[in-house]
Amino acid sequence: MTKTIRPLIAGNWKMNGLKASAAEFAAMLAGASKVVGKADLLVCPPATLIAGFAEESKGSIGLSIGGQDCAPQPSGAHTGDISAEMLADAGARAVIVGHSERRADHGESNELVREKAEAARRAGLTAIVCIGETLVQRDNGQTLEICRDQLDDSLPGGARADNLVVAYEPVWAIGTGLTPTAADVEQIHHFIREFLVGRFSGDGAAMRILYGGSVKPANARELLAVPNVNGALIGGASLKAVDFLAIAADCP
Ligand code: PGA
Repeated sequence: MTKTIRPLIAGNWKMNGLKASAAEFAAMLAGASKVVGKADLLVCPPATLIAGFAEESKGSIGLSIGGQDCAPQPSGAHTGDISAEMLADAGARAVIVGHSERRADHGESNELVREKAEAARRAGLTAIVCIGETLVQRDNGQTLEICRDQLDDSLPGGARADNLVVAYEPVWAIGTGLTPTAADVEQIHHFIREFLVGRFSGDGAAMRILYGGSVKPANARELLAVPNVNGALIGGASLKAVDFLAIAADCP
């Protein structure tokens, strides 16, 4: 049933990309119309490139721009931080919150991630909330418990299918070339779907659940075909237009 949800292929450029990356982005933009029948595309470059890319992609069909993080506050004395309102002002339509690199590098708690997701909604952005277990937690059989705790505490209340996306990203699969089996992904995404339906009813049934962690053209078709996988959050492979577009073309 969830295969009727339109997939989202989101690229997380992380701390990569200079002005010279405009050519790669232009290639993504040029190819976006060819995959428009398959998926929505979202590119999340570093903050320095958001306004330029948003300007360039104005009027594009099916490709929008997002941020990689936002502060919970709308403005104020928070040196170095960027608010959701600022991202929206720069032309972003979405923002990733709670990525495991931010949870680890900046000590972000579930509560802070929820505040950020609420800030995204306040600013009219779609929040992509990331969850996922570490290798130790997985080996201890705690995957579902960890995911449930993160869902419980990181997701904002009253979200809708059009302003909240959940990304399941096992920490051990990010940037490692390792991925869970399709059967594991199916079990965890089913678990997340049940949670979302319990929390948000009909909207929870229609929300996108992305898989993230070492998605590349070689494995995208299999992962994207898994029930309740409604797209992907892609790091490394999203830096190359040809790979990013090939993954989108593999959506069922
Ligand atoms: P990766 O990163 O595709 O390079 O594994 C995924 C992510 O961190 O979102």
